[in-house]
Amino acid sequence: MVARSVLITGSNRGLGLEMVRQLVLAPRTGNPKLVEAPRTGNSKPEVIIATCRSPHQAQKLCEVADNNKNVHVVQLDVTDESSYGSFVSRVGELVGPQGLNLLVNNAGVAPKSTRINMVRWQQVTDTLTVNTVAPIMLTKALLPHLKTAANQVEGDSLAVKRAAVINISSVLGSIARNEQGGLYPYRASKAALNAITKSMSVDLRGNNILVASLHPGWVQTDMGGKNADLTPTDSISQILSLLHQMTDHHHGQFYQYDGEQGRWRIEGVYTMFTEVTFGTEQNTKAGIWSRSKLRESDKVEIKEH
Ligand SMILES: NC(=O)c1ccc[n+]([C@@H]2O[C@H](COP(=O)([O-])OP(=O)(O)OC[C@H]3O[C@@H](n4cnc5c(N)ncnc54)[C@H](OP(=O)(O)O)[C@@H]3O)[C@@H](O)[C@H]2O)c1
Repeated sequence: MVARSVLITGSNRGLGLEMVRQLVLAPRTGNPKLVEAPRTGNSKPEVIIATCRSPHQAQKLCEVADNNKNVHVVQLDVTDESSYGSFVSRVGELVGPQGLNLLVNNAGVAPKSTRINMVRWQQVTDTLTVNTVAPIMLTKALLPHLKTAANQVEGDSLAVKRAAVINISSVLGSIARNEQGGLYPYRASKAALNAITKSMSVDLRGNNILVASLHPGWVQTDMGGKNADLTPTDSISQILSLLHQMTDHHHGQFYQYDGEQGRWRIEGVYTMFTEVTFGTEQNTKAGIWSRSKLRESDKVEIKEH
């Protein structure tokens, strides 16, 4: 299994929901890519804490929980710091004395404003609050449970199965690869998230907690839009394979969903993506994406919203 206990923020739709769906798949009955993955196996986590802002409106997630006793839907608006105390207590009850193995900071927003003349103050601060501030503060709040999990294992090796924080970032956070400009709130929020990943990796190494940023690819979700390259199934199946394989080598680094192929191992935030050939980043009304190979026919005008 990827880990005994997993907590995913923003799991009522998009990539978070897909991660919950794939985590509850029985071994060898799911996506072939998952079955190929890890020697460590794909047995289900014992505890999956699927958080969302409005559980009563999260029908798809609640259906998964109804059919899988290991899935616990817990209300969390990641920006509501006043709720963290009771939330952390609830997580403690669910994971028990073995602690929390894996925190996936997945919840995110991507406002459509693109160019300097369109950007608004509130939009920037709201985006930073969800995509950047919340992952720091939530990780801080959940540290006692992560440390408890890390302490269940002898030695100082790192693995997601032991204890890990995975920050879902984006290639749009790349400074080196920003050739299109615009997207101030989103780009800044993900660049900062990558810097945070690096700091966390330094701070938490002594606690034997693995920390990494992951770019899920351009994915067909509400955020990615329907023209995206990957289905959520493809993206998440490869992310889960990668999580199984993560070790000390991955600590403090940024990987693309298919990082097991080794094409996205980058050193540090300012040199991110300079070792790879990456195409173009654009945005449409449908959403924001990045592509490894942008075909001429795919090019669209960047529009203000
Ligand atoms: N899709 C892509 O192509 C792509 C590419 C690169 C990176 N990413 C990153 O991948 C992650 C997931 O994106 P996605 O494509 O799945 O997006 P999505 O379909 O728009 O889903 C976003 C999720 O975040 C949740 N969320 C937003 N604000 C929240 C808050 N304050 N508290 C708790 N949950 C909140 C949403 O909940 P509500 O339903 O309550 O709004 C929803 O569950 C994001 O961090 C995104 O930046 C996506």
